[in-house]
Amino acid sequence: MHTQVAIIGAGPAGLTLAALLHRQGISSIVLERHDRTYIETRTRAGILEQPTVDLMHEIGVGDGITREGMVHNGFYVRFDRTTHHLDFTRLVGGHATVYPQQKLVADLVADRVGGGEPLLFEASVRSIDTTTDGARLQVQTPEGLLEITADFVAGCDGFHGVSRAHLPADSVREFERTYPVAWLGILAHTTPTTPEGMYCAHENGISVHSMRGPNITRQYLQVPADTDLGDWSDERIWDELTLRSASDDFPVLERGEIFDKSLAPLRSYVCETMQHGRLFLLGDAAHIVPPTGAKGLNLAVSDAVTLSYALGAFYLTGGSEHLDAYSSTCLPRIWKAQHFSAVLTETLHSLSADPLDWQLRRARLTRWVESEHEQSALGEVYLGLPFPSPW
Ligand code: FAD
Ligand code: DHB
Repeated sequence: MHTQVAIIGAGPAGLTLAALLHRQGISSIVLERHDRTYIETRTRAGILEQPTVDLMHEIGVGDGITREGMVHNGFYVRFDRTTHHLDFTRLVGGHATVYPQQKLVADLVADRVGGGEPLLFEASVRSIDTTTDGARLQVQTPEGLLEITADFVAGCDGFHGVSRAHLPADSVREFERTYPVAWLGILAHTTPTTPEGMYCAHENGISVHSMRGPNITRQYLQVPADTDLGDWSDERIWDELTLRSASDDFPVLERGEIFDKSLAPLRSYVCETMQHGRLFLLGDAAHIVPPTGAKGLNLAVSDAVTLSYALGAFYLTGGSEHLDAYSSTCLPRIWKAQHFSAVLTETLHSLSADPLDWQLRRARLTRWVESEHEQSALGEVYLGLPFPSPW
């Protein structure tokens, strides 16, 4: 089987790339190791930047976002029992939209399948051999081993995928920080405590109070990295969320049925370069941000836009200059998101017992709430910097 672009992984990066290539008349095959139900129900991200939302509308997959997305102007921060709203929309324009990642994935899958374009589920890529003018992939499917040849390979297979290992070690520089904490995440049938998401900075650690609809909340607690979920009963989770979000200006947090619990590590990671020959890395395969600030999904979409332009230019003109510049085009925006995520993480989490650190964090939080300059700087990145343009 031959295609122009073999796409490994049907997450936001792979599916967005596939949609953008299809609209330029470039053929691709998407290979996903899980089944359709799994990827359409896996609870993960939920905050879309304005450029991500605009793109989904431009390519005709924005109906679900219009129907169910919750449009927010910014977020709340709470510390010293006092709540502050940061209204970024007023200062920088645009919005953040709450729309679950699995619904965006389902919308993109429906678009792909509806257009009759190949998307193989339960197809796990085992090996990639790249040559100067193409690549050969071995893919394990329920029917047996499948061989696919392609002009290019897009590694959209997440942090634990197979593609990154195919970059030669001497061409790669990796940057990594692993935080000693994780996020314990829940979904619950409760009413959101604030009309937009909220970060609470507390001496026990951050609590995050987000939502997935008017009656469903998504909340997170900072916990030690080696936490066992079994140690966290529903009651203990509610007690800790209530303690960390206690305030003098809002009603106490509502409790209800928890129907999903998960743990996610906090890590910053960038793989420079993001390409080798005919292989390109996108999204979590190339970089991870800690979840504070909700940038991961949006970066995956941004990489897909950059690679789709470069592939479009290649097939139109035969010139490879935009492909050659793929990493250097993506990386500045990735590093700005890394910086934003690190600043939010280090300001909002308790990562040290040193009282001086809390005073410094409180000073920064106070600047965020008192200075419109600070809010504009945060808001520009939170609502979404423009996608990179090589032209
Ligand atoms: P993925 O979504 O991981 O997709 C990779 C796909 O590749 C998977 O479906 C996988 O099954 C497949 N695959 C892997 N190996 C193979 C193989 N060998 N063969 C075939 N297929 C393979 N980001 C935000 O922007 N906003 C948020 O609010 C946010 N919140 C988050 C909350 C949590 C708890 C977590 C865990 C993450 C959050 N993120 C958030 C991050 C976001 O979910 C990821 O950055 C995003 O999923 C990256 O998309 P991707 O397409 O690069 O990778
Ligand atoms: C959510 C995720 C985040 O990473 C964040 O910073 C805020 C909200 C969410 O899942 O809604």
